[in-house]
Amino acid sequence: MAFTLPDLPYAHDALAAGGMSKETLEYHHDKHHKAYVDKLNELIAGTEWEGKSLEDIVTGTYNKTAVAQNGIFNNASQHWNHSQFWEMMGAGKNTIPGNLEKALTEAFGSVDEFKKKFSEAGVGQFGSGWAWLVKNADGSLAITKTENGVNPLCFGQTALLGCDVWEHSYYIDFRNARPKYLENFLNNLVNWENVASRY
Ligand SMILES: [Fe+2]
Repeated sequence: MAFTLPDLPYAHDALAAGGMSKETLEYHHDKHHKAYVDKLNELIAGTEWEGKSLEDIVTGTYNKTAVAQNGIFNNASQHWNHSQFWEMMGAGKNTIPGNLEKALTEAFGSVDEFKKKFSEAGVGQFGSGWAWLVKNADGSLAITKTENGVNPLCFGQTALLGCDVWEHSYYIDFRNARPKYLENFLNNLVNWENVASRY
């Protein structure tokens, strides 16, 4: 069965008060994410990947040695990444549940220090990519950054929080100011209940 574009878990204007405009979500979800889904369906038709789960396609096509990943990987991983990203945001979910706050404090010293390091990862990703809070197989937390569509599935990690730092995610609302976009994302857009549910 072909992959389909998931609906946003909220209205297109639901995040506007938090700093992500209706226009950004109309372009980012309705056009960019849709293009990844459409291209993925086109590329896997008639191949060994048709009918496989999205996670299996991502991990099965990730090439650890290639600088440029193949088209199936790029579109599958971006479909997965964006599907997570929409769920990781929400209006009025800015309070960090106690168990997650404790884990962040233990891992990074404080919530503020976590936010600082996460922002640094996003700002420091040269070109397009993602910043992540991940849980490693041993249960430890880490902050990572990945290029283009590469994601924690490629490294056997659980994605707790991801921030899209492709320009299409922030250029309408923040122009070239990626640091401000990241600061706003962490303080006003993250659905911490969703992040905690992944932990
Ligand atoms: Fe994106």
